[in-house]
Amino acid sequence: MHHRWVTAEVPSNIALIKYWGKRDAQLQWPANDSLSLTLTESKTITKVRCSDEAFDRFTFSGLGMSDSKTHPEHKIFRHLDFLRKECGFIQSLDIDTKNTFPAGCGIASSASGMGALTAAAIAAWTQVSTFTDMNLLGFSRERIAALARRGSGSACRSFFPGFVLWQAGVAPLEQKVASILDESHWPLADIIVVISSDEKEVGSTQAHELAWTSPLFGPRLAGLAERMEIMIRALEQKDFSTFGHTLEQEAMEMHAVILSSTPPVHYLTPLTCKFIGWLRQMRQRSECPAYFTIDAGPNVHVLCESENVDLVVDQIRRDWPEYTLLIDRIGKGPSMFTEGRHEQ
Ligand code: PMV
Repeated sequence: MHHRWVTAEVPSNIALIKYWGKRDAQLQWPANDSLSLTLTESKTITKVRCSDEAFDRFTFSGLGMSDSKTHPEHKIFRHLDFLRKECGFIQSLDIDTKNTFPAGCGIASSASGMGALTAAAIAAWTQVSTFTDMNLLGFSRERIAALARRGSGSACRSFFPGFVLWQAGVAPLEQKVASILDESHWPLADIIVVISSDEKEVGSTQAHELAWTSPLFGPRLAGLAERMEIMIRALEQKDFSTFGHTLEQEAMEMHAVILSSTPPVHYLTPLTCKFIGWLRQMRQRSECPAYFTIDAGPNVHVLCESENVDLVVDQIRRDWPEYTLLIDRIGKGPSMFTEGRHEQ
């Protein structure tokens, strides 16, 4: 039988207020609300079609192929099994996926990867290829985002444009995720400075669990609602210095929790610290209108207003020629297509 390929392109996102720690790992219920900016260039492109074989096949960047028989423990196959069970699908899938960002550059791909896998798999199973048609079959964007969340928490934010708020709610099934301002509101850029592409020693799933052991985690949670309010107001008013100050404080607080967990985890490296020291100095000298945030890794996301991208990139290239830069910007969210049809 001929099965049609469906493609989903889902961007990555960078958290401004971080999701760190879970109240329920099984249901992916976060300890706190988080807020992110959906990116444009850094995305995962995943092509899926139904298969008549007894197991799933998965190809990454045209290289290495694995299947669910030989790798049943793999996160991807576990997520596909979860989706089949949760939604009542039975068919196996052929999956062909790639990232637009260079492999092994240390940029987290779980948000875009799980997002694209979820959207494309559901499209293949339901035999449609647009969000509009999936919605008519009971798979609203919110539902697809909630399903993707089970594969990787932060994936749920990648389904929406611009600035996206993921609310924990009062119970695991009361979570909500939606755009609060779209991408045209404030065209921000994210210059990703690849300081190290080494594989992380402790993955974020494991590190999330340690959050509760940090003496700083309780105080962090107690203060987050206020910080979220300040951040949202700064976005609404396009107040770049309040935005940036809050952004840096938030990133360093998350890392303070990570560093003070038992056992402690060190995502920040001496080179990361050297770079952020440099950025702060440049900013004080009014030479570099940009602020940083850092996820669970050593690389730095430098955020600036779009009119300043060239200036900021030039400064970084001049003083840090050894680092690869990935230049990204706020975006519209995912798109889907099949031969001849394209939908945002
Ligand atoms: O979605 P996960 O389990 O990879 O966790 C992501 C955690 C951070 O990237 C550090 C923060 C965030 O909100 O994206």
